[in-house]
Amino acid sequence: MKINRFAEVGDWILDRFPLAHLWNSHMREYYAPKNFHFWYFFGSLALLVLVNQFATGIMLTINYKPDAALAFDSVEYIMRDVNWGWLIRYMHSTGASAFFIVVYLHMFRGLLYGSFKHPRELIWIFGMLLFVALMAEAFMGYLLPWGQMSYWGAQVIISLFSAIPVIGDDLSLWIRGDYVVSDATLNRFFAFHVIAVPLALVLLVFLHIVALHEVGSNNPDGIEIKNNKDANGIPVDGIPFHPYYTVKDLVGVGVFLVFFAAVIFYWPEMGGYFLEHANFILADSMKTPEHIAPVWYFTPFYAILRAIPDKFAGVIGMFGSIAVLFLLPWLDRSPVKSIRYRGGMFKKALAIFVISFLVLGYLGTQPATPGATIVARIFTTLYFSFFLLMPIYTRWEKPKPVPARLTMQPTLEDRIASLIAIFNEITVKEAITLKNGKTINIRKPHLENIFIAIIRLIKRLKESFD
Ligand code: HEM
Repeated sequence: MKINRFAEVGDWILDRFPLAHLWNSHMREYYAPKNFHFWYFFGSLALLVLVNQFATGIMLTINYKPDAALAFDSVEYIMRDVNWGWLIRYMHSTGASAFFIVVYLHMFRGLLYGSFKHPRELIWIFGMLLFVALMAEAFMGYLLPWGQMSYWGAQVIISLFSAIPVIGDDLSLWIRGDYVVSDATLNRFFAFHVIAVPLALVLLVFLHIVALHEVGSNNPDGIEIKNNKDANGIPVDGIPFHPYYTVKDLVGVGVFLVFFAAVIFYWPEMGGYFLEHANFILADSMKTPEHIAPVWYFTPFYAILRAIPDKFAGVIGMFGSIAVLFLLPWLDRSPVKSIRYRGGMFKKALAIFVISFLVLGYLGTQPATPGATIVARIFTTLYFSFFLLMPIYTRWEKPKPVPARLTMQPTLEDRIASLIAIFNEITVKEAITLKNGKTINIRKPHLENIFIAIIRLIKRLKESFD
């Protein structure tokens, strides 16, 4: 009789470790709502980017030197002399920005469909802790190349702590380990960036997913699928996570990687937004750059800091703009979760919030002129109003009736067909004769129909806000 050694080893492990049980309960028999769409790609993409950051980070650490006299040159060495070093570094630096893009979209999905509401408050809290840890990770990582912006960015942000009454000066001294940002700061930031914060991130991701699997996923309708089960106890609107969503998420991964690779190979600095120009100059404690701005993902919060005239109040405003997000599950008093069934007030408030976040993000990259400061103050007020007035407007507005079962929305195929129909509507066929005498048909814009289509679009947009 032929002995299958692989099967034997497999059985030996399965007799001692609950691998099959874990796989079944969290993948094959974990029932997820069947109507996940575009906005549900970003959780798995965040996991992918996290793995990318770990893999490329470990490889960078092999050649990086956490020493103020050597750090800048070691990064240049990685870029020029280490085999494929440029690729690893760009994968890591682009990965940092991609992480924030993915996580901001993931958080926005939570706002759209009320994923932070009962019973998912703890998923949201772990998510917010992840967001804070991610910001700390990115902030400390940015000091490591020891360029001008690394140095002065850290100097500005750490000195903010000195605005705190009584303990401020000692606190900022304690964080830096010196009176100015120096080798001591670089060493401790390196330790936190490569060991402490990554460990916290892994732990928090684990807790985030455990909390998610305890209560089950929300969905674009904001209906609890667990409330509607068949005779076998399986949610009638659920499908097993594996193979349906493992395969679907792979499509998201493919599309994401196309964009990710395009940036890495063709636009790794993203015009100074992903890697700032001043950071290609060695840190100089005697020369302040003309304009100090953090990387794009911090700029909305930086703009809030600068919008408030008093330094300490500014620090409170900046940290408060992040802290208020933790409170979201308790600020939202609407009886419905999904934006599909909310009233117009929440939709308008969310639109104003998104505009405020983007405007503040832009202002944070620009010098603080008097005009820009006034605009930043207006949008800081709107940013906070979204949260602080939420208990009022979510209770006032009248939600729409929520269906008992999940609704299916148009698929990508349906959407492509309707786009083709619109294209045919706004263009007309015209035959033209080429120089060689051949006649071909082309489509030309039809102004009147374009106008009609735009009016229809505006009407639909208005209806969706009602
Ligand atoms: C390293 C960062 C993060 C990773 C790796 C991560 C991963 C995931 C994954 C894999 C899911 C399940 C799939 C999905 O629903 O998309 C999920 C769900 C969720 N995440 Fe995150 N997440 C991260 C950060 C955050 C942050 C910053 C927040 C918000 C503050 C957040 C809030 C949520 C919520 C509310 C859900 C449940 C969504 C639902 O059931 O509809 N996550 N996360």
